[in-house]
Amino acid sequence: RTTAVILAGGTGQRVGLSIPKQLLKIAGKAVIEHTLTTFENADSIDDIIVLMAPGYVPDIEKIVEKAGFKKVSKVIEGGSTRNETTERAIAALGEGLAEGEDANVLFHDAVRPLLSQRVIDDCVVALERYQAVDVAIPSADTIIVTRTHGEDGEFITEIPDRSRLRRGQTPQAFKLSTIKRAYEVAAGDPNFQATDDCSVVLKYLPDVPIHVVAGDEYNMKVTQPVDVFIADKLFQLASTAAPEQVSEEAYRELLTGKTMVVFGG
Ligand code: CTP
Repeated sequence: RTTAVILAGGTGQRVGLSIPKQLLKIAGKAVIEHTLTTFENADSIDDIIVLMAPGYVPDIEKIVEKAGFKKVSKVIEGGSTRNETTERAIAALGEGLAEGEDANVLFHDAVRPLLSQRVIDDCVVALERYQAVDVAIPSADTIIVTRTHGEDGEFITEIPDRSRLRRGQTPQAFKLSTIKRAYEVAAGDPNFQATDDCSVVLKYLPDVPIHVVAGDEYNMKVTQPVDVFIADKLFQLASTAAPEQVSEEAYRELLTGKTMVVFGG
């Protein structure tokens, strides 16, 4: 059995609007409705649970009812950090499992509404061989490591080889027993600190290999105010011709301003 867990417990401080960013309407639908649609339509997904920001569970129930999603089996409140939200999901998933039974679980950020079916399928296939799977893309930017020296500000301490660096996206996929065990070990660490789930496996179950599946550039996380506008444009592009490659013709149209049509004006 494969469950998608939609992590929507955050409030989107950096976007800074009065409602959580997962409820913002982009390209005609709430961000999280796009995300839910993708998982609802994925053949490899059996059911979906949503962990929503406290106070907004009824908003999700309304969206689910109106859209007629059949796979959403539970909508519950998230925790105060992303990892706490994951832990709540693990607890909720464990309830449905018989002794000795295992399951697949895909944790996905609600605010990555442009996820493709290809990435979901690749994760589920990878779980046939691996207990932990991450999704990542190469970094176009050089990544620098810095240290802050008081009032003098930041200084570079290291510039890792870019060819080995990747930008982590979601889903992050696991055998339920594995991610559960990782969080159990983490619970014994008074200094536990993480922002994603693969890092919990990496740190607390160092013998478990974490396979990496190729993500894609579309699978952006709506994080900063500008991302709201970028995501909106990407939806328009995705609904016309999602380019793996820019054709000469499309590029010429862009130069002559004709792409106002492609980009929806
Ligand atoms: N998330 C969650 N529970 C939390 C915090 C975050 O489920 N307590 C989810 C968010 O809803 C989002 C994903 O984790 O789908 C990625 O987190 P991020 O972009 O950092 O979201 P926010 O915490 O909402 O953003 P901000 O840090 O700007 O407040």
